[in-house]
Amino acid sequence: MRATLVNRVRSTIDPANDHPYLNGAWTPMLEEWDAEDLTVEGSLPRDLDGVYLRNSENQVHQPLGKYHPFDGDGLLHAIRFRDGKASYRNRFVRTEGFVAEQAAGRALWSGLAEMPPRSERAGWGAQGALKDSSSTDVVVHAGRALSSFYQCGALYQLDPQTLQQFGPAEWDGAFPAEGVSAHAKVDVTTGELLFFNYSKHAPYMYCGVVSAAGKLTHYQPVLLPGPRLPHDMAYTRHFMILNDFPLFWDASLFGKGLHVARIHDLPSRFALVPRPGVNGTAGSDTIRWFEADPTYVLHFVNAWEEGDEVVLNGYRQRNPMPPPLAHAPRPYAMLMAYTDLHSLKPQLWRWRFNLRTGATREEPLDEGISEFGSFNHQHSMQPNRYVYSALGEPGMFLFNGLCKHDLRNKTRQDVSFGAGVYGSEAPFAPRNNSQSEDDGYLVTFITDMNRDCSECWVYAAQDLGAGPLAKVRLPARIPSGTHACWAAATELDSSTH
Ligand SMILES: [Fe+2]
Repeated sequence: MRATLVNRVRSTIDPANDHPYLNGAWTPMLEEWDAEDLTVEGSLPRDLDGVYLRNSENQVHQPLGKYHPFDGDGLLHAIRFRDGKASYRNRFVRTEGFVAEQAAGRALWSGLAEMPPRSERAGWGAQGALKDSSSTDVVVHAGRALSSFYQCGALYQLDPQTLQQFGPAEWDGAFPAEGVSAHAKVDVTTGELLFFNYSKHAPYMYCGVVSAAGKLTHYQPVLLPGPRLPHDMAYTRHFMILNDFPLFWDASLFGKGLHVARIHDLPSRFALVPRPGVNGTAGSDTIRWFEADPTYVLHFVNAWEEGDEVVLNGYRQRNPMPPPLAHAPRPYAMLMAYTDLHSLKPQLWRWRFNLRTGATREEPLDEGISEFGSFNHQHSMQPNRYVYSALGEPGMFLFNGLCKHDLRNKTRQDVSFGAGVYGSEAPFAPRNNSQSEDDGYLVTFITDMNRDCSECWVYAAQDLGAGPLAKVRLPARIPSGTHACWAAATELDSSTH
């Protein structure tokens, strides 16, 4: 391995802090690396050709008030696989907030858990006053990596291989003032980027479409009864699927500067918004709404059309308002519960929306706790057989293993990373000339607290039980992180820009 330390950022975090999400596997990383010809244990498949990109919530400065792990600064990690070799880079996303705090040498914005906010400058996000840290999600669209903030903000553009930065997407001046939420979706069949946003102001939500050439081609309101907290969306050939779940802010507290979410006595609602150019001209009066049992869903995994029905798979939370985490340090017990999969209890679930009758049917696909799913995107908008999920470490927002759901046989296979070893979201990477839905790999970064190192592990999706085919050593231990994506070599061409 040839590794070059490119940069080290200025940090003011108190080394004596006891925050569970600033220590251990969440200890922030301050270095930016370039590394070539990474050392491989095992064998890297030569038909794995593309980039695994992962974002991280990586706090740099001593928090201004209470810290929540979602506040951390965006730090992207990219590992490029080609010809059985791998190279790695990581870079902080040069957001407006990151640059300002580096210049100031301290935090200027308080975060999600600090109420009311103590931010010293105007902020971003649906609730306002937060720093747009761009640390939540990453997708590749039109040859550019786009990092995003969970509560709506800019889409910061980077080259997915070099991580060269191109600043916020502007869409020729059409980028919405309301920002864009995390979990914009790339339709691989049309090359379009489908997105949504939400805010505290009527109509409270918009959705839109960006063409493969990077032009905003559609933007429409989705009128809600009030401010909501959606986190993900889904899509089929003819619809964008948005949601209105009963977990949202108590608006009566806004006057005090407080943003406290609770479950309201309301059903879940799903909006089917016709995709423009497919189903005629879309407008808010064409949206179809469907009701379902109350819950909250962080993430969906695929949707498709089947006769009169639109089918949606996602992770339904059995307990979206958990009590404070038992045995946790008291100041952190609430945030630790809300970031603990074993408290929220998400399970893989299916909703069926009947376009003819307007009725919803729903059913569990698996009784076990899992979240942060992936599937073979070549099977987007089709009835996919396999879903891959992350398994949570009880009590902490850490992934301690993977599972493969076979939705046809109603079985699942779990693999553990081992005690003290944590992974990130593991997208499915089809191998070149893939012959079947699960003919490919699952890729994850690993933070190994036992050996004080990080690796990238590559599993054969058809045989998770065999363990990783390859363990690729990174130049430094990287912190635990969440959302990630796979971009095949063919998706890395940014010549449209
Ligand atoms: Fe997410």
